[in-house]
Amino acid sequence: MAQTPRVCDYEGSDYQQAFWDEGGRAYEDQAEAIALKRLLPKSGKLMLEVGAGAGRNTPRYAGFERVVVMDYSTTQLAQAQERLGRSDQYIYVAADVYRLPFRDGLFDGATMIRVLHHMADAPNALAQIRRTLQPGATFILEFANKLNLKAILRYGLGRQTWSPFDLAPVEFVELNFDFHPKAIRQWLNELGFTLERTLTVSHFRLGWLKRLVPARWLAAADGLLQPTGALFQLTPSVFVQAVLPGQLKAQIPLDVADWFKCPGCGADELQAEEDFLVCPSCQSRWAVRDGIYDFRESV
Ligand SMILES: C[S@@+](CC[C@H](N)C(=O)[O-])C[C@H]1O[C@@H](n2cnc3c(N)ncnc32)[C@H](O)[C@@H]1O
Repeated sequence: MAQTPRVCDYEGSDYQQAFWDEGGRAYEDQAEAIALKRLLPKSGKLMLEVGAGAGRNTPRYAGFERVVVMDYSTTQLAQAQERLGRSDQYIYVAADVYRLPFRDGLFDGATMIRVLHHMADAPNALAQIRRTLQPGATFILEFANKLNLKAILRYGLGRQTWSPFDLAPVEFVELNFDFHPKAIRQWLNELGFTLERTLTVSHFRLGWLKRLVPARWLAAADGLLQPTGALFQLTPSVFVQAVLPGQLKAQIPLDVADWFKCPGCGADELQAEEDFLVCPSCQSRWAVRDGIYDFRESV
């Protein structure tokens, strides 16, 4: 199989508990909910959630009939299963975004929230997602913004070596990247997306302010400021709504096995066997374990 970029591995991580449940981030979570509500289509058939983690955002995609909850980490997906349950509505898939196991033009919606910042090759990851989207599909992308006010001030005061004005991503900690909004726009445009809306999010990510002001007030104020993202983006987090030209398909294949392609050789038409999907072309066998389709390594 072709070499793919390094993955930031969350296997066994307590990210959901440490960062969200006990990490004092109720404001950021509520601000994201406001942004998603603004950007999501009112309804849809099949959503791909890339890097879904423990499924924190997944219930927010209730307008879609079905959601593929996809992540590299099976322990994150197990937490998502606990939160969301196992039903026809949610399909759990362990896969690497650089080798997505889905057929071309399958989804009418996709999101990638707080994931691009782990991408060593962001244009490649975005191209993979674009391949799986139908004409007319909506893609909502959150990215960590290197051109944020704090970075600009720190750079101006000589307390930061890297320039926030430079278009190249900055890796400030291993496998943690910030991006320039202009670079993101260029990559999405090159892939054929039209950028419909840009929202700035987390205007008030300041520890002392979060201790003083209730999270829901800060989130409401954030919601008022988010549309200024159409003019300028100085917040640490930015959401964009990118749409592909064309008409959505009327139907999605009914059988889930018909959604996949072999991430090893690229062949469509995987054959369902008990506990496996088998590629008739390269004979790779992909396990289906505990309600999770695992496309990371063939067995
Ligand atoms: C910071 S967490 C965000 C989780 C979730 N989107 C949220 O906002 O709560 C990043 C997630 O991206 C996943 N991830 C990182 N690299 C990945 C890759 N190459 N393919 C698929 N998922 C990846 C991690 O396993 C992790 O669950």
